[in-house]
Amino acid sequence: MKYYVRTYGCQMNVADSNEMGRHLEARGLASTEDPDEATVMVVNTCTVRQHAEDRALSEIGRLKRWKAARPGRKVIITGCAAERTREDIEGRFPHIDLVAGAKSIEDFGVLVDGLFARLPTDDSLEYAAPAGDRVSAFVTTMRGCNYSCTYCIVPYVRGREIYHPMERILGEVRDRVAEGAREITLLGQTVNSYHLDGSRGRDTDFADLLEAVGAVDGVERVRFISPHPYYMTPRVIETMAACPEVCESLHLPVQSGSDPILRKMLRNYTRDQYLNLIADLRRAMPGMTIGTDIIVGFPGETEHDFRATLSLIEEARFDWGFIFKYSARSGTPAALWGSHPRELIEERHQECLALMDRLSAEKRRALPGRVEHVLIEDEECGRTRANYKVRVAGPVQAGETIKVRITDATHATLEGTPVN
Ligand code: 5AD
Ligand code: SF4
Repeated sequence: MKYYVRTYGCQMNVADSNEMGRHLEARGLASTEDPDEATVMVVNTCTVRQHAEDRALSEIGRLKRWKAARPGRKVIITGCAAERTREDIEGRFPHIDLVAGAKSIEDFGVLVDGLFARLPTDDSLEYAAPAGDRVSAFVTTMRGCNYSCTYCIVPYVRGREIYHPMERILGEVRDRVAEGAREITLLGQTVNSYHLDGSRGRDTDFADLLEAVGAVDGVERVRFISPHPYYMTPRVIETMAACPEVCESLHLPVQSGSDPILRKMLRNYTRDQYLNLIADLRRAMPGMTIGTDIIVGFPGETEHDFRATLSLIEEARFDWGFIFKYSARSGTPAALWGSHPRELIEERHQECLALMDRLSAEKRRALPGRVEHVLIEDEECGRTRANYKVRVAGPVQAGETIKVRITDATHATLEGTPVN
């Protein structure tokens, strides 16, 4: 019996999909890339913006035919939209067999057992992650979010923060390394808020976690997403700089460059604090690349606020960034604060995208000629420590780290040739 997983949304969802895959494989199911071959279909949904939710819902609608085409097929809906709209989707799509929302990931195995009363469970069955995910693996360290950014639905669908014990995390890191991982990306909604009071005889924080993961045999590289600026403490920065495994690259969502908007978003930092923070990071780790998330068109965002975001992007010299159009999520405070005309948001989005594209192209222009350590993830591509994807000319092997001279940086994926 085979299963197919369709994943929408963030890396957290990708990691959850992998975790669900492990549960299914422990029950004797094999993964497939072809929905026609599958008996079990998992759709892991996202609800962070309306667009993401709509795409997942229309996919679920199409599965009615898929299910009818062969008897015994099962449709499982998971993730954040499943958590938020459970009753709605169960009512709308009677062909769904199981809804397991984002809060139920930890119970997924038990829920699936209920669906297939007689599936054998054997945890020794080997999980075969896709090649790219094998060399560079995600490990979930915490779930939920204690923030309540006023635009964000995540705290409602994923709940309050819970931190996985250090032993569990290190155990998963060792498992991933045994499966071939060389790079570990620690995952959490505010990954660097990690702390456990009194564990191991004293309090443990994110810096301890970074150090411990870096020290696991076989781990060459450590990354983490997504940190919140507020918890980017001097201790975390020092530890990042001191651990050779921690890569010089960070995704640090800023959301806006305007203080009044940051306040309305309840982000808990100012523009200047953010800019000082990335200056500290770059001082501690020269050459560090920094990416970000920006929301344009937040309720009440004036032309002046928007210009402040553009100027922050220029000042911060981001290496890349994701620009999102504000999307009202019902249940969040900001959803009650009105909205801008669609054309205005579209215009700001385009302007912001163009600026970010120009800046990241400028950054990339400095790369050709440089020699970088590239960790190969599949037959032809790998990543630099700064997190640029590189297509390497010539035979390479997944899992090896080689020196590569960058030859072209016109596109998001760089080109390079191995050097000795
Ligand atoms: N509208 C637009 N973008 C959003 N994000 C979160 N909520 C919303 C929303 N309601 C963006 C933030 C976050 C990223 C994952 O998604 O920028 O960092
Ligand atoms: Fe949402 Fe803010 Fe929590 Fe990030 S920190 S998940 S944006 S509430």
